Amino acid sequence: MLNDFTLERANNFIKNNNINKTFYPKLNFAAPVGWINDPNGVIMYKNELHLFYQHYPYDTIHGKMHWGHAKSKDGLNWEHLDIALAPDQPYDKDGVFSGSAIEKDGKMYLMYTGHVLNEKGEIREYQNIAISDDGVDFEKYEDNPVIDENDIPEGSSITDFRDPKIFEKDDQYYMVIGSKTNKNKGQVLLYESDNLLEWEYVSTILPHNNFLGEMVECPDLLFFKNKDVFLLSAMNYTDKETDKFYPHISWIIEGNIDWTTFTFETESIRKMDGGFDYYAPQTALVSSNPNEYVTIAWQQAWNRTMPSHEENHQWTGQMTIPRILKQENGVITQKAYSGITSEIVYYQIEDELNLSENYKTELNGEYLEFEMNFSDQIELLLANSKDENIRIKFDGLNQIIVFNRKDTIAIRNHDTEELYDEITYPISVSDKSWKIKIFIDTSSVQLFVNDYYTLSSTFYSEKNLDLLSFSGIKGSKLNNMKYGYLNIQDMD
Ligand code: FRU
Repeated sequence: MLNDFTLERANNFIKNNNINKTFYPKLNFAAPVGWINDPNGVIMYKNELHLFYQHYPYDTIHGKMHWGHAKSKDGLNWEHLDIALAPDQPYDKDGVFSGSAIEKDGKMYLMYTGHVLNEKGEIREYQNIAISDDGVDFEKYEDNPVIDENDIPEGSSITDFRDPKIFEKDDQYYMVIGSKTNKNKGQVLLYESDNLLEWEYVSTILPHNNFLGEMVECPDLLFFKNKDVFLLSAMNYTDKETDKFYPHISWIIEGNIDWTTFTFETESIRKMDGGFDYYAPQTALVSSNPNEYVTIAWQQAWNRTMPSHEENHQWTGQMTIPRILKQENGVITQKAYSGITSEIVYYQIEDELNLSENYKTELNGEYLEFEMNFSDQIELLLANSKDENIRIKFDGLNQIIVFNRKDTIAIRNHDTEELYDEITYPISVSDKSWKIKIFIDTSSVQLFVNDYYTLSSTFYSEKNLDLLSFSGIKGSKLNNMKYGYLNIQDMD
């Protein structure tokens, strides 16, 4: 036997294990047990949203990766399904790494990277396929890998070549793959196929630029009315202006593909999210003409301490809630997925709240929305009786949002011990008011500003943060405040 990482062993292990749910999310997806990272194979299949994910069930660390699997009708309440893929073949024996899904003739095809250490201890990454008739049981294709090192263009790395994202365009299948040059410069490669089984290299669709760092992970390509959009994650990026180093960062890149040269011309680049915890977003097309994509990201960060691991809770890692990306009035908007917003029950509404004095209330739900004037400065404090709290400053005057979690469990860099307790997110909104929507979960906040800027961050507190207060500079007001809770079912 190649190794003992079989599907059967993983499924039995999961069934027979319990976790400590102190920090466990209610809104966000998390694994039944063990470690998760990237969302994989996000797809709307037979009217249900399927989510696969990088998963190591046996421990709360990144081990030999499997693909976990869940599905949902509303993007909020998830049903755990059996593990879809285990690292049980010579071409994926050291990890079934990230990839994507597509439907063809009613079948679901998964395309993923097999991560392998060869006899010499060198890394090789192969692209493989698994097929299912029902979207639950998958069989790996007998002729895997469908793309190996011989299909990688000269000058590109044969060790780092991963995370295929499949899409269909004008009756042709394509796939973008994360890559780097032999000189460690991130780039994205494009492959094409008529039948999903045989693939050919087409182009370096996104050649290197500084934003792509030393390696591109999890590239994804979206098509809107008059723009094409890359979502991708870059490793080891250094901001040229500030010299600040980011080991991992996710970008949204707008531009256009030239389909004669198969290259993407970049028009603008911005961070996909301004929080501490947002990586490897993946999308699925959920409606066409105009195109709308649902997107889910890993709401956690590499190389940092994770309290549920440190405190031995037997699970670690969570996703964002699904969002919808679409083009509206020329811009790409980001909103919570409609399946989720339709589950919000509003229990309190205030037309206007004057913040000349601090305002305090108990939070009885997971959702909050309000508007503020862009010349106001407002601070939201979410606390408990144990002196734990998070603070979010909405600073219209300086056009920033500052998220602070220093009074919750410390999160540090594994190597440098750097503390990640406060993050500042520049907001350059020309609108006169900021419309803020916030989803507050057991251990994360996800906020949306004018359906464009988003900030996602985890925080880990020993006790729930359910005391809410607002303060503001003189004259600050909140308008159209709505408090809501979400209809969450217990899926256990
Ligand atoms: C991104 C990533 C991918 C890889 C996977 C491994 O977070 O490093 O590039 O496929 O995670 O788990």
